[in-house]
Amino acid sequence: MAINIDIESKTFTLHTIKSTYQMKVDAHGNLLHTYYGPCNHGTDFSYLIAPADRGFSGQPAGAARDRTYSMDHYPLEYPVHGNGDYRIKALKAGIVGSVPALDLRYHSYQVTEGKYGLQGLPAMFAAQNGDVQTLQVVLKDLYEEIYVTLYYGVFEKKNVITRAAVIENRGKEALCVTRAMSMALDFLENDKELIHFYGKHQWERQYERTAPLHGISEISSTRGMSSHQHNPFVILCGRNTTEDYGDCYGISLLYSGGFRIQVETDQLEQLRVVCGIDDDEFKWIVGSGEQFATPEVVLCFTDRGLTDLSHDISDAFQSNLIRSIWKDRQRPILVNNWEATYFDFNGEKLVNIARQAAQIGLDMLVLDDGWFGKRNDDNSGMGDWQVNEKKLGCSLRELAERIEKIGLIFGIWVEFEMVSEDSELYRSNPDWAMVIPGRDPVRSRNQLVLDLSRRDVIAHLKATIDKIMHLADIQYVKWDVNRSLENVFSGYSPSLSQGAVRHKYVLGLYELMEHMAENYPDVLLEGCAGGGGRFDAGMLYYTPQIWCSDNTDAIERLRIHYGTSFGYPMSSVAAHVSVCPNHQNGRTTPFQTRAVCAMQGAFGYELDLEKLSEEELAQAKAQTEFYRKHGELFHKGRYYRLSSPFENRDFTAWSYVSQDQAKVLLSVVFTDLNGNPKTLRIRLKGLDAGAVYVLEGKEYTGAALMQAGLVLPVPKCDYDAWSVLLEKQ
Ligand code: GLA
Repeated sequence: MAINIDIESKTFTLHTIKSTYQMKVDAHGNLLHTYYGPCNHGTDFSYLIAPADRGFSGQPAGAARDRTYSMDHYPLEYPVHGNGDYRIKALKAGIVGSVPALDLRYHSYQVTEGKYGLQGLPAMFAAQNGDVQTLQVVLKDLYEEIYVTLYYGVFEKKNVITRAAVIENRGKEALCVTRAMSMALDFLENDKELIHFYGKHQWERQYERTAPLHGISEISSTRGMSSHQHNPFVILCGRNTTEDYGDCYGISLLYSGGFRIQVETDQLEQLRVVCGIDDDEFKWIVGSGEQFATPEVVLCFTDRGLTDLSHDISDAFQSNLIRSIWKDRQRPILVNNWEATYFDFNGEKLVNIARQAAQIGLDMLVLDDGWFGKRNDDNSGMGDWQVNEKKLGCSLRELAERIEKIGLIFGIWVEFEMVSEDSELYRSNPDWAMVIPGRDPVRSRNQLVLDLSRRDVIAHLKATIDKIMHLADIQYVKWDVNRSLENVFSGYSPSLSQGAVRHKYVLGLYELMEHMAENYPDVLLEGCAGGGGRFDAGMLYYTPQIWCSDNTDAIERLRIHYGTSFGYPMSSVAAHVSVCPNHQNGRTTPFQTRAVCAMQGAFGYELDLEKLSEEELAQAKAQTEFYRKHGELFHKGRYYRLSSPFENRDFTAWSYVSQDQAKVLLSVVFTDLNGNPKTLRIRLKGLDAGAVYVLEGKEYTGAALMQAGLVLPVPKCDYDAWSVLLEKQ
């Protein structure tokens, strides 16, 4: 049984194939967190908690005479503000007009088959009968009719446990919530390291591994989106954990807005992690009879190292989070005109690119920014979703039809969440933009943010989506957003708590995404936020792939892809071959290296195909043919990080291994050149040890390739690449 409950001792134990998770109600009715780690059956782990009188750690109601009992040092399942716990909390709330204070005690529980859902929010789902069970544990405030239901979705075979909390006000007075985290996780020891993924625009998800501070370490975004700067996915692992060995916990928040993940080492060297919505400006009023649901968080534990963790998370997302029908389909190989033309194009130019694309064998042309309104640069026109027929020289339908005749399908770029002040939309609806009345707004890319918390804005955008989707046979949409939120003020309703607007914005965004998913289920939706500024598991629920970074330099992409691969399926990483010198950093790399790097994800080209040399054209044809032929391997194969770009200065290597271990694509990109070079070798992973693999006519056993490895060729030029296929005999 995935969920095991001992009613007498009020112990709740959740099992997956690689982990056990336990909580227990104590004599005072508090819900303690007793264990999360390797599989264990039949143990009540509360014996590990050692009561002791700790100075300045007060006693909650009902325990005044027992000075060894304090919420300040007990491991808790969902810690709240106001009951004597001075560590980071999951929940801070109080009756309006009073001060925030709660004292939640156990009330009841319920187990159901299948997976709970969260209204308006992304959530993992059951893919087939019996693959998930739900546990609800209900807590109630000692004094008020405030209930908190903790939800657990146990995906036993997928090795994943999801969590979320729903706060319900059954009392008469309104409740003011200023912090509502999706989860807290307490560990009795601080024997762990934190792996997180930081960055900036054009440099996302850089890997960092560090010991948590005494005090609070924080990974967060106050930007209204998950952001380029930090990612809502972290790993806690043992100090000795490697790719292939050791304990690790993955924590992934299914949320695309601002978030906060905090890790606290407390006075007793215990560790607490909390994760949820950014509470910097958060204030949500839960009226009488109302509820508030937190976003979902996905937890995954394995004692088999980081590669195993990444595989489990990828598999679970692939089967139980990504909904699009495209998740099981090979993605079209595309050419996007952004880096080819920027805003400077017309219909003829696009058709010429499409002709060249057809010669190469590509599947799709994507028309990027600049096709609508008065939009010949990024200072105006945003919000005016009327086709600029003058610029195209024809209607969108005519353009799409010309492209179809050439043999390509047609995709388009949109950015519905934003508005330029120099636009018809802004001139007619200035109050639709989020600005603080009387203050000059903070502009970014010279645009403002539309107030997605407003029903009229959502209705307008749904109608806009429908209008555009009927303008032509559009088979792919790149949904972009190009600034962080700031001065988030909604003029919609004076009674609205302004502290609720950021979250309502995200709910509005999800509603639009849901509209896309429901009405245009066949369309391939690609997420984007100036590249990878909203690369999160919440988005994957709607978009099976995400433009990974505005940085298309193959060498910088090595690090970006490496970091991304820890928490996300590689099939969700969109990556393109672009021109050299690279537009972002001026680097020149071989054409083949750019393709080898871009084949780490959903592959395409983003350069003026008309300017390719004969040699490049031939290479592009071969690359396209190769990617299509081995599509299944790229799409469904297991991805192995073989050498880290953060540690190895000579090369970065990775491989894709087919599910049946019959085919292996090994890719190596050399990142340094030396005179009198040392011999470089690489060990492979995930092969069938007893089988024989053939590479360039030579035979090797799987065991030899994994235990001793292969000799790498000497690179012939800067950033040379070596990408080879090994096949089982
Ligand atoms: C963002 C995207 C780019 C491109 C531009 C267009 O930066 O990440 O790929 O679409 O917007 O303005």
